[in-house]
Amino acid sequence: MTVVNEMSMTFESRSSNESFARSAVSAFVAQLDPTIGELNDIKTAVSEAVTNCVVHAYKDSIGKISVNVRLTSDNCVIVRIHDSGCGIENIKQAMEPLYTTAPGDDRAGLGFALMQSFSDKLSVRSKPQKGTTVTLTKRLSRRLSNG
Ligand SMILES: Nc1ncnc2c1ncn2[C@@H]1O[C@H](COP(=O)(O)OP(=O)(O)OP(=O)(O)O)[C@@H](O)[C@H]1O
Ligand SMILES: [Mg+2]
Repeated sequence: MTVVNEMSMTFESRSSNESFARSAVSAFVAQLDPTIGELNDIKTAVSEAVTNCVVHAYKDSIGKISVNVRLTSDNCVIVRIHDSGCGIENIKQAMEPLYTTAPGDDRAGLGFALMQSFSDKLSVRSKPQKGTTVTLTKRLSRRLSNG
């Protein structure tokens, strides 16, 4: 697997940047000619990850969120979303469907479950007080038409 194209961006953890992030990732991935369904899956997963940075990682504060997107020769999209926020104490528990630490804020605890079902591979790395990195891999059905 080789990376054929890559982009990175960093923005502030404001909820107004959630739609920016999903649109920017979607515009970059569009060059692989994904199906509408694949693009929607990627947008949904990215939205969930970025929203988590805004509402959990930097709760009551503003911090930086970095998004890196790599397109590979075997037609995969790898999106990494990183924050330097509060981190997650117990990743396994956090990833369980319906688990949320913010039930009072109308959170359903379904973000990780959605990311899991809308991507082919999901990896979460986190250290309390250091931050969290979520990496989503999505394999596209169509082949790259050009380099
Ligand atoms: N980037 C992050 N930094 C710190 N904690 C996080 C982060 N992402 C998720 N979490 C923790 O993991 C829990 C589960 O996340 P998940 O996205 O599945 O549900 P939720 O955000 O609580 O609810 P929903 O996504 O349905 O609105 C969160 O409640 C939060 O405690
Ligand atoms: Mg969430």
